[in-house]
Amino acid sequence: MIKEAYIEEVVNKTNPSVIAGSNLIIQASDIASELEQLRREVKNEKAKIFEIDQLAATKIELAYHLKEKEKRAAELLIANKELSFQNTEKAKRVDELIIANEEKEKRAAELVVANEELRYQNQEKEDRAAELAVANKELAYQNNEKEKRAAELALSNNRLHIALIDIVQIITKLGEMRDPYTSGHERRVGEIAAAISQELGFDPQYQEKMRLAGYMHDVGKTSIPTEILSKPGKLIEQEYALIQTHAQVGHDILKGVHFDPSIALIALQHHERVDGSGYPNKLKGNEILMEARILAVADVIEAMSSHRPYRAALGVDVALKEVTSHRGTYFDSVVVDAMVRLVEQKGYRIPV
Ligand SMILES: [Fe+2]
Repeated sequence: MIKEAYIEEVVNKTNPSVIAGSNLIIQASDIASELEQLRREVKNEKAKIFEIDQLAATKIELAYHLKEKEKRAAELLIANKELSFQNTEKAKRVDELIIANEEKEKRAAELVVANEELRYQNQEKEDRAAELAVANKELAYQNNEKEKRAAELALSNNRLHIALIDIVQIITKLGEMRDPYTSGHERRVGEIAAAISQELGFDPQYQEKMRLAGYMHDVGKTSIPTEILSKPGKLIEQEYALIQTHAQVGHDILKGVHFDPSIALIALQHHERVDGSGYPNKLKGNEILMEARILAVADVIEAMSSHRPYRAALGVDVALKEVTSHRGTYFDSVVVDAMVRLVEQKGYRIPV
C-alpha cells in the first residue's frame, strides 16, 4: 500500500512522458512482482519437490524397513515353526516321560506288592524255621533218650548174652561129664566155625551165632547112653543109628529156646551132606543152611584133629585132606576153601 500510494503520488506530480515512463516502471514493477511471485512459486514448488523427495526417501526407507520387518517376520515364522516343532517334540517327550513315569509307578507298586509278599514269605520261613528248631530240639531230646535207652538195652543184652554163654557152657560141661573123651569138642567146633565165618566175610553177630551153635550142636547126645558114646572101637549098626538120633534130639531140645531159631536148625542139619548122603533128612546143597554147612566142616576138622576113644588124633593135615577130598560132595566147596586158606595161608591153628 505504501508503494502504490507512492507511485500514484509520483504519477500525479510528473509529466506525460514521465507518466509514460512511470507506466513502464509500473509494468516493470508488475513484471517484477510477477517474477517475484513466480520465484516464490518456484521456491514453493522446489520445497514441494524437496518434500516429495523427502517423502520418497522416507518411502524407500519405509519399504526397506518393511522388507526387513517381512524378513524378520519370515525368520520369526521359521523360528516359530522350529519352536512349534520343538514344542511338539517336547510334548511328545513329556508324554513319553509321563508314560515312563506311569510305568515306573506301576512297577514301583508291583515291587511294593512283591516286597510285601517276600516279607510275608520270609516271616513264614522264619516261623517255620522256629518250629523246626523246636522240633529239632524235641527230636534231639528224643534221640538222646533213645540213645540212653539203646545203651541201657545194649548193656542189658550184653548181660543176657553173658548169662546165655554161662548157661550154654554149663550144658556143655554136663555133656562132657557124660562123654569125657570128647571134652572141649563143642567149644573148639564153635571157635573153628566162627573163624570160617569171619574168613567168609560174615559179620561179628553171625560169627557169634556160629560160636554158640558150635557149643550146642551135639546137645542131643545127652540122650545117648554113655557106654555107646565112650565105646572104644567100631559101633554096630544099631548103635550108629542111635548115635544119629542126636541131631533130631538136639533140634527138639533147642527149638524150645527163645533165641535165634537157626541154632536148632543148625543142630538138626550139621550131619547133612551137600550130595544128600547125610542124615537125618538127606538134604542137598542149598537145602542145607549155610550155617550147618560151615559147622559140618568145623565138626569134622575138630574131630579128626583130636583124640577119640577108638583112635588117636589124626592131626589137622589129615583132617584137611579129608574135607578136601570130599569138597563138593560131602562138604560145601566154598567152606572147604575157606578152611584150607585159614590153615595154609593165614597160619590158623586148631584151638586146644
Ligand atoms: Fe554131631
